[in-house]
Amino acid sequence: MNNKQFLWGASTSAFQAEGAYLEDGKGLATVDIRNVPAGIADTKIASDHYHHWEEDIQAMKELGLNVYRLSFSWSRIMPDGWHVNEKGLAFYEKIIDRCLEYGIEPLPTLYHFEMPQALVDQHNGWLGRGTIDAYVKYAQICFERFQGRIRRWVTINEQLIAGAAPDLHGLHCSDAEQALKNMYQIYANMSIAEKKAMIELKKIDPQAQIGPVCAIQIVYPDSSDPEDVKAAMDAEEMMMYSLLDMSVSGRYPLKYTSYLKEYGLYPEISEEDRKTLKAVRPDFIGINYYFPLAVRHPQPGYDYSKLPPFWRCPLFEVVENPHLEKSEWMPNGMDPEGLYLGIRKIYDRYHLPMIITENGMAYSDLVEEGKIHDPYRIAYLDAHIEKIRQARLEGYPVFGYCPWSLFDLVSSHQGFAKRYGLIYVDRTDTDPKQCRRIPKDSYYWYQKRIKRGLEND
Ligand code: BG6
Repeated sequence: MNNKQFLWGASTSAFQAEGAYLEDGKGLATVDIRNVPAGIADTKIASDHYHHWEEDIQAMKELGLNVYRLSFSWSRIMPDGWHVNEKGLAFYEKIIDRCLEYGIEPLPTLYHFEMPQALVDQHNGWLGRGTIDAYVKYAQICFERFQGRIRRWVTINEQLIAGAAPDLHGLHCSDAEQALKNMYQIYANMSIAEKKAMIELKKIDPQAQIGPVCAIQIVYPDSSDPEDVKAAMDAEEMMMYSLLDMSVSGRYPLKYTSYLKEYGLYPEISEEDRKTLKAVRPDFIGINYYFPLAVRHPQPGYDYSKLPPFWRCPLFEVVENPHLEKSEWMPNGMDPEGLYLGIRKIYDRYHLPMIITENGMAYSDLVEEGKIHDPYRIAYLDAHIEKIRQARLEGYPVFGYCPWSLFDLVSSHQGFAKRYGLIYVDRTDTDPKQCRRIPKDSYYWYQKRIKRGLEND
């Protein structure tokens, strides 16, 4: 693999970057009407990328990127879920064409944590079959419009989180048991929708590739106690392999199936769905990785009932990992080795090419005399890139790296103080100001790192 083939990129997502939440015909999205605590930034302006897109792409060019991982706002393109908003498509067309002009491959995700609220109102969101059809229609429209211009598509970003967070998928349920059952049905419905979209792409644009983006869960056992080792294996299976096995081979792992059946959580999947699920395989896997987890076997009296739904499982208990360095916004720790292990685990199970679609370090950066010194982020990114280099030297087919994020974005649930960007966006949680862009030290560092290339260390 030579360096020319390696894709150096950066990531953003529509609802976290664009703002303009009701401009040019965009419909309300689930994330636009969620309950944002007072004093925390919302999606209305976000990073105002909708009005800064030209300078943002210019900054990508100067950075030396050859891929840009973005997402399309479903509610900008299909405001009511069913009818196309031409101005929405036109916005992405401008971005795609400018990127291509600059030699940057646009890598769009169709569904990144955001959908038309109308689909929740009309079809019960991802719990209803109507949403599967609406997603496929939306995908078809995008594939047709951008045929020949998009080389690789992503179906769904982080199905694990997207299907579990009511603020993102828009389905609120006060009965915790029912909410858990819903989550597994949502996962199944998303998998069916994703496969139908893959099938459509192969008809519309056979040259184009498509794959999922997975929030990989690298889980360490708390000790060498075999029960802890089993808990770690179960946790990976419940949160990572279950969804990826579905994306790749259209079936759930046996342990996941038996657990869900034992607890009455197994989703409805028809025989026809099963055929659809097995009909096509992705061309690549996108990996999002920020930190690993540690678990032990649940101790007597362990109460999992209040945990986030994908941790609400009696097979494992999440514990702190004392071996990792932590920080305010990275409480689970930082661990480049986890990325290396993740690459190996994913490749050994699926034998597909991989691209790192997210990886980054959050910090409440400070502006000092007009500059942002972020050595902590540089150290984080450098160490993770080094692990990718190592994996590639060993033959693992990782074809790109897209740190999160190109510029500061509104966090998925924690506002604007939590910053990941290579470029500072001058706004606060409560005052959007002009959203002026200021490259951080990490931007200039990444620019040099890209120039040096992966093979030249
Ligand atoms: C990933 C998501 O989960 O992590 C992004 O794909 C998200 O949308 C990123 O922003 C960082 O998480 P957070 O919650 O810190 O914004």
